Amino acid sequence: MLNYKIKIVTAMFLIASQSAMCFEVLPASPHVPADNAMSVAKIELGKQLYFDPRLSVDGTVSCNSCHDVMTSGTDNQAVSVGIAGQKGGRNAPTVWNAAFMSTQFWDGRAVSLEDQAKGPILNSVEMGMPSADDAVKRIGSIKGYVEQFKTVFGDKDSLSYDNIAKAIAAYERTLLTPNSPFDRYLKGNKNALSDQAKRGMKLVEQIGCSACHNGPNFAGPDISVGTGFYQKFPTFENNEYVKKYNLMADSGRYEATKIEADKHMWRVPTWRNVALTAPYFHNGSVKTLDEAVRVMAKTQLDKTLTGKEVKEIVAFLNSLTGRRPKQTLPHLPNASNDLLTTK
Ligand code: HEC
Ligand code: HEC
Repeated sequence: MLNYKIKIVTAMFLIASQSAMCFEVLPASPHVPADNAMSVAKIELGKQLYFDPRLSVDGTVSCNSCHDVMTSGTDNQAVSVGIAGQKGGRNAPTVWNAAFMSTQFWDGRAVSLEDQAKGPILNSVEMGMPSADDAVKRIGSIKGYVEQFKTVFGDKDSLSYDNIAKAIAAYERTLLTPNSPFDRYLKGNKNALSDQAKRGMKLVEQIGCSACHNGPNFAGPDISVGTGFYQKFPTFENNEYVKKYNLMADSGRYEATKIEADKHMWRVPTWRNVALTAPYFHNGSVKTLDEAVRVMAKTQLDKTLTGKEVKEIVAFLNSLTGRRPKQTLPHLPNASNDLLTTK
């Protein structure tokens, strides 16, 4: 009897979830690689490294400089500013829920958070460490870090570039934003969305945005880590936006692979917290979410939306802002009473 009831409830849930379609609640926890189990001490170490500008060559730039976890998980600049005021060519995506993305970067060139974290430290524009060894030496010159690496990774070779990346990735796996109004709606609270947002939700399915922006992160299907979900952008090139926002200058995934078919292919980015992360697109060229929606409709679906439709879609996108776990600044281990140097 009980079993029978469960079946009915399951069937009803399936029907409800089918009408609520290709969208899913944000999962409670992300995939954790077998060789980087989470622990309280590892997360704390990763958080310190994330906030520590001493991980950059001149001690001025930390991960948090460009991905501010007190706010949007990004810097809200068109393109980021690294050491010595240098500017990169792409917009900083948010670190909130990056743990749910199956690949990292706009072009998906990093297969995991561990892989990703090794990039910016050595990038000459971002944090500028000349080599992985220099980064390890710098951290090794700070006693409090050496002790923590031993506690977390064991006595033997505990302080390594790989382990720096592992600790940072473990911290990033805590940067999740559950319980957005949309998630509460999907879980059964029909009042969690305004009528305008509900119309926007229907619209993104009807006109086809959700052909690409679907799944738990609205960034495509829930595929295995390391596999990217790429789409061409712009798909339709013959419109005013392509020139106005310079959408063809960067050839996307091709830059990483040099494969012809990857020209202007981009990883489908998340819609979660997108209301917080202006400006938009890989080059940060579009200042408002309204305009980003108009650009997408035209470049991806060859559609011109009415003002009312844009407002409805934006109301829906606003409902995807989740609850960010409170962040407190970590205590960083004391400096070694010496000038920062990589020699
Ligand atoms: C100078 C600014 C800057 C600094 C410092 C920086 N990042 Fe980034 N970050 C970026 C930019 C820009 C991108 C996108 C680059 C691209 O896609 O080619 C990015 C991409 C990412 C992504 C991928 C997110 C996604 O959705 O694809 C993650 C995760 C990330 N950074 C974490 C970090 C961590 C961890 C550190 C510190 C070790 C760090 N970043 C330091 C600017 C920065
Ligand atoms: C064919 C696949 C596809 C379709 C359809 C599509 N998108 Fe996108 N969307 C993308 C890709 C790829 C990007 C990344 C573009 C880039 O590299 O700058 C993107 C980016 C975005 C962004 C900017 C995200 C950010 O963080 O800067 C928004 C907002 C967005 N899409 C909304 C929409 C809306 C609304 C629709 C429907 C009107 C839509 N998309 C239809 C693939 C698609």
